[in-house]
Amino acid sequence: MTGPAAGSTTAAGQIRTLTHLVRRAESELRPDVWAYIDTGSGDEVTVADNRQAFGRWQLVPRQLAGVTTADTGTTFLGIGLSAPVLTAPIGCDRFLCDDGLRAVAAAAADSGMAAVVAEASGWPLEDVAAAATGGSMIMQAHASGEIGQFVELADRAVAAGYRAVCVTIDCPVLGWRERLRRLSVSIDPAHYSGNHPDGRFAATLVGETGSSWTWRTLRDAADRLTVPLMVKGVLSASDAVHAVDCGASAVVVSNHGGRQLDSVPATLDQLPEILEAVDGQLAVAVDGGIRSGGDIFKALALGADAVLIGRPVAMGLALEGRTGVKAVLDLFTAELARTMVLAGCARISDINPDLLRRRR
Ligand SMILES: Cc1cc2nc3c(=O)[nH]c(=O)nc-3n(C[C@H](O)[C@H](O)[C@H](O)COP(=O)(O)O)c2cc1C
Repeated sequence: MTGPAAGSTTAAGQIRTLTHLVRRAESELRPDVWAYIDTGSGDEVTVADNRQAFGRWQLVPRQLAGVTTADTGTTFLGIGLSAPVLTAPIGCDRFLCDDGLRAVAAAAADSGMAAVVAEASGWPLEDVAAAATGGSMIMQAHASGEIGQFVELADRAVAAGYRAVCVTIDCPVLGWRERLRRLSVSIDPAHYSGNHPDGRFAATLVGETGSSWTWRTLRDAADRLTVPLMVKGVLSASDAVHAVDCGASAVVVSNHGGRQLDSVPATLDQLPEILEAVDGQLAVAVDGGIRSGGDIFKALALGADAVLIGRPVAMGLALEGRTGVKAVLDLFTAELARTMVLAGCARISDINPDLLRRRR
């Protein structure tokens, strides 16, 4: 599938470029909503490092490659995508926009991409699926709580047509989010309890106690899944190997966008050793700090199969709902297509490490 024309500069709604999106979000959103989206944890060292890691790589194009258009289409976990992009799970979605993940999943379907739908949504997963007819969705769940509840959630997701289950392993408790504490941001449980009206989230995730889950628990949980497992929050080669041992079909190299443990390494920096450790045994996606089509290109050139986009999607949602998310996703695709033509790549499979150089 070919992405939006590389020469196009018009996007739906008022979001004209991804840089403009961030400026608009900061100036137009309510301060507590902006803080919730933009915050990291601790001193936000990891948030900054995620971005800086992309600056450590330069592109070395191949000129006169005869490339007239770029085909950004690919597959991930057997799901056909118009570009190697999935929307990252975003909890407390109804704090950002009442339509929340229903709008995100619908926009992802409109753009031919897949949505990873957060367990901590204000909407039940069935309602999200109903809003995105024909779209591809992956259900995200946390590695915490009773295994029976996990299996129940996964079964509901499969019944509603979700294609895979993504287990987030870096969130046994919430990170220490300074900005939210400073502003006393308070989020109504209705904004994140759509899947657990019984208050399970209030008791576990929002509480002060960590998770008792181990890799053994995840393996037991995985044995009861009937769809592929994706493990999100892998930052080390050894944890990636644990994911392989659990029978996972994919990992997401992620530090939760620097919102969980601060001072962990940038995801892009960890990607190569994780790819080496898994040695093609599963698919590898990466997220954290991806803010342009060029960033996607760099992640793919280092060997990732796909990327997840968090804050830009959250900003598009908070500013303009479904239209805003679609504009953001289409901008990423258009920029990626433009980057591919300029670098001499007609297809995603043409993107390779020879097109990158470490900044000296
Ligand atoms: C507002 C917001 C809410 C998030 N909620 C969740 C969540 O419920 N579950 C989860 O696994 N990750 C969650 N994340 C992390 C994202 O899925 C993703 O890993 C991260 O945002 C990627 O980094 P980026 O924002 O720099 O693109 C959230 C991120 C943001 C910005």
